[in-house]
Amino acid sequence: MSPEIEVRTATSDDWSGIWRVLEPAFRAGETYTYPRDIGEAEARAAWTAAPGARLLVAVGTDGVVGTAKYLPNLPGAGAHVANASFVVGPGSGGRGVGRALANAVLDGARAEGYLAMQFNAVVETNERAVRLWESFGFEILATVPEAFRHPTAGLVGLHIMYRDL
Ligand SMILES: CC(C)(COP(=O)(O)OP(=O)(O)OC[C@H]1O[C@@H](n2cnc3c(N)ncnc32)[C@H](O)[C@@H]1OP(=O)(O)O)[C@@H](O)C(=O)NCCC(=O)NCCS
Repeated sequence: MSPEIEVRTATSDDWSGIWRVLEPAFRAGETYTYPRDIGEAEARAAWTAAPGARLLVAVGTDGVVGTAKYLPNLPGAGAHVANASFVVGPGSGGRGVGRALANAVLDGARAEGYLAMQFNAVVETNERAVRLWESFGFEILATVPEAFRHPTAGLVGLHIMYRDL
């Protein structure tokens, strides 16, 4: 990753930069289950206001280039397992931003006492993400068949991926 990229906790001032990163991914509809026509306010609530969520940004000289969040995967008796989500801006992929965000999320989740991390819905055609998570020790526990309606590939599977912390 280029040295001028910093990963830090997001503030409310970061939202416009976060939305510039999220919007292309949500509109493309290839990696997340948000409605492709989701409005900005709804996206903001979903990305920044989930109970217990910690929100991170990767920031370069041109502003926000990536964002991630982690939160309890389930409430109550399931709250020691974290869930996390990541998006890197379209012009910033393949430069280590995703890896840097993942390192920060894993470190943060560990420091907060989470015992494991689970991804509930990794689209099986999202090879870049699957390879990245596997490089961090996540394994595919199961694949829910035809659970994701991909805009060009049709019905594809969703991986449940997991690692302990
Ligand atoms: C998945 C995502 C977060 C990865 O972020 P990124 O900044 O592009 O990833 P990195 O540059 O840190 O690369 C991480 C790994 O991805 C893989 N990778 C990178 N570029 C790749 C490419 N063009 N094709 C395939 N794999 C690639 C490599 O394994 C790389 O590992 P390395 O660090 O050993 O080279 C990013 O592509 C993204 O935001 N995608 C859209 C949203 C999404 O899919 N989120 C995750 C949902 S589970």
